Amino acid sequence: SWTPDSFAEVSIKELKEKLGDDKVVMGLSGGVDSSVAATLIHHAIGKNLYCIFVDNGLLRKGEFEEVLESYKGLGLNVLGVDAKEQFYTALKGLTDPEEKRKAIGKTFIDVFDAESHKINGAKWLGQGTIYPDVIESVSVKGPSVTIKSHHNVGGLPDFMKLQVVEPLRLLFKDGVREVGKALNIPQNILGRHPFPGPGLGIRILGDVTPEKVQILQEVDAIFINGLKNSGLYDKVWQAGTMLLPIQSVGVMGDERTYERVVALRAVTSIDGMTADWAHLPYEFLADVSNEIINKVKGVNRVVYDISSKPPATIEWE
Ligand code: XMP
Repeated sequence: SWTPDSFAEVSIKELKEKLGDDKVVMGLSGGVDSSVAATLIHHAIGKNLYCIFVDNGLLRKGEFEEVLESYKGLGLNVLGVDAKEQFYTALKGLTDPEEKRKAIGKTFIDVFDAESHKINGAKWLGQGTIYPDVIESVSVKGPSVTIKSHHNVGGLPDFMKLQVVEPLRLLFKDGVREVGKALNIPQNILGRHPFPGPGLGIRILGDVTPEKVQILQEVDAIFINGLKNSGLYDKVWQAGTMLLPIQSVGVMGDERTYERVVALRAVTSIDGMTADWAHLPYEFLADVSNEIINKVKGVNRVVYDISSKPPATIEWE
């Protein structure tokens, strides 16, 4: 019968046979799938797995550093690439969600390709593709920054003439988490909510600037830390915040303010295909709202999204 331990054992053995002394290059996203896939490959071939983790400037607050540390803790041979400016430049002035996705996806491919060329003689591209990615082209709204949902089913971008190795191809998410546990991958990676490849780039409605990213990172950190501290994080499938392209009137002391509005979004779901808005306690929402308005300069209003999917989607873009 299937157990996570036996899956890990068999799959490491098969990877060893398949890959031999070959070099594998792999992009990591900080998410569950790529982390578990990389760990399996690492167990099979050690330092011949070259991982690349790109800071696209659209990650959560402190996420790049934290995730990089976790990867190093797992013993992975991982290179962190700061490509923030390249992404901000590519996004400059773009407001259409699909155009933003395309710009982010293309920049990722450029950065990843440049970095992977530095790894001499790589023969394989590792990917965290899981079964649902194989059966339906998962990228619901177009390409993401990860090669995973950008090209997972069709294969590789032409210019990367590498063979694909996908150790999780037959697993569902739950199975991936179980295998991750069997491999002693820490809970801070395994328990992570899904996060879109284009990251905060599609949670800043309208054009993306470094200033807006910084505001949204602060807002998001308050919401996510609040969920964690209240024991609610594991009860929702996904949570995040949106920076809206409008301002609203407020008062502070005797002053009239005219500042930004942010929306909080938290959903329960099985697979992301349908979702219900999470019925978070009013007290919790009140605390988060106060903290955001008190601490994040430039935000004077917080709203909570009570739409279900369908017809609304989880992301706003
Ligand atoms: P929606 O907004 O379509 O999202 O209800 C469903 C799930 O997919 C994620 N999502 C994306 N993931 N690239 C990704 O890698 C994307 O472009 C993208 N758009 C949405 C979303 O966060 C949710 O988990």
